[in-house]
Amino acid sequence: MHKVRTEFPKNFLWGGATAANQIEGAYLEGGKGLSTSDMAAYKDPYGEGRVNNFTFNVSSEELEKYLLNPEKYNFPKRRGIDFYHRYKEDIRLFAEMGFKVFRLSISWARIFPTGLEDEPNEEGLKFYDDVFDELKKYNIEPLVTMSHYEMPIELTKRYNGWMSRELIPLFIKYTTAIMERYKDKVKYWIPFNEMNMNLNSIYTGAGVLEDKVTNVIQAAYQTSHHQFLAQAMTISNGRKISKDFKFGCMINAIESYAATSKPEDQLASLKAGQINLFYPDVQVRGYYPSYMIRYFKENNINIVQQEGDNEILKNGTSDYVAFSYYMTHMTEHREDMRDIAGRLDSPLKNPNLEISEWDWPIDPIGFRIVLNKLYDRYQIPLWPVENGLGAHDKVVDGKIHDDYRIDYLRKHISAMADAIEDGVEIIGYTTWGCIDLVSCGTSQMSKRYGFIYVDQDDHGNGTLDRIRKDSFYWYKKVIESNGEKLI
Ligand code: BG6
Repeated sequence: MHKVRTEFPKNFLWGGATAANQIEGAYLEGGKGLSTSDMAAYKDPYGEGRVNNFTFNVSSEELEKYLLNPEKYNFPKRRGIDFYHRYKEDIRLFAEMGFKVFRLSISWARIFPTGLEDEPNEEGLKFYDDVFDELKKYNIEPLVTMSHYEMPIELTKRYNGWMSRELIPLFIKYTTAIMERYKDKVKYWIPFNEMNMNLNSIYTGAGVLEDKVTNVIQAAYQTSHHQFLAQAMTISNGRKISKDFKFGCMINAIESYAATSKPEDQLASLKAGQINLFYPDVQVRGYYPSYMIRYFKENNINIVQQEGDNEILKNGTSDYVAFSYYMTHMTEHREDMRDIAGRLDSPLKNPNLEISEWDWPIDPIGFRIVLNKLYDRYQIPLWPVENGLGAHDKVVDGKIHDDYRIDYLRKHISAMADAIEDGVEIIGYTTWGCIDLVSCGTSQMSKRYGFIYVDQDDHGNGTLDRIRKDSFYWYKKVIESNGEKLI
């Protein structure tokens, strides 16, 4: 019988998560090329009367303007939080909190500036060598995402990003270069961040200019097909490079509760769940599930595939399921399921849940549900690699009293402890934005997630000084006590 575990495993990997394009800055230093995320121009986040004025889609017209007259715009992701120059100080602070793991991503455009070069850029490779060495000093394990919402912009211009199958060999060249280089420094890899978010922003997830495709949903699934193949090939290659490598697929897990007990709504909720889990279904099982084949047929979605693709998928499945968890949604029956499935902005509001300042529903019990469902379905280890609360923080006399963040994390860690007791196997937990960083969705600096405050505003003003928040000391105790002390 499965042993009931009432505490976090001894070797549980506590830590925090980031992404290159949201922290590094130095967007043209060290030989780096321009990337898709360097084009996410800041827009008034409260414009059009919405708190979430997403900046993650870029049109052909905007791209042209941004390339021609960059000085006219504010590009927060070009600045990040200057991790490129301050990584030693930041890693020291992570070590002070007792981190066992740090999730970061490698910027493809630092290694292959346009994506097309034959040889990798040595200066780019050296930067990550230095970062990994610094982590090693403190025994912090790196967890490395190979593609987190960015790629060389040249690949967008030339191929319209992942719409083209040509991207696969270019990605394999990149991932082979980094796996060869860091085989003795990195064990845990995630080839793609939240591939399912291609349905939300095909530019952010797949470097595609939406105005250049005719059917955006079909395009999102076509880019995903190419990414599935690229991921599977990376994994089978990686297994030849090192036997120690462990690969995770990664989704934004959004549990979708049925809006009512009406069977039609229950069915709609099941379908929304399938659209979410379609991604790990392919990546863990190695084939397209039948419910999705039906969905494609019913919605006239035609994915161009080649002979041999099924074989590739079968040979590159994942060792663990990584996922981000921020919220749950509600689903009701609709004639057109495309209206509701896979989106970040749910049209239905759950009256039982509080929401964040950015209207994101807060649901710790949903976290336990997601952990249980994923484990029941796949029976391989899970890894929540993103979870956290985006909030406005105030500095008062040099201190940040972020009890709201502590409260949020405490409830989510508690839910995770419950899931462990339910029998779910979890490798570790990395909170999102362990140091304040530029928001992915809105390019704001003022949407903060960190234990460490970074003195910078949305327009790049500030000293960039790092300040420990109250949550910093709280998380340190959580780690020290291996999740026992949550108060
Ligand atoms: C995840 C992304 O979906 O959400 C991160 O992987 C992102 O890159 C995080 O930052 C939070 O979203 P936002 O828009 O608040 O930054």
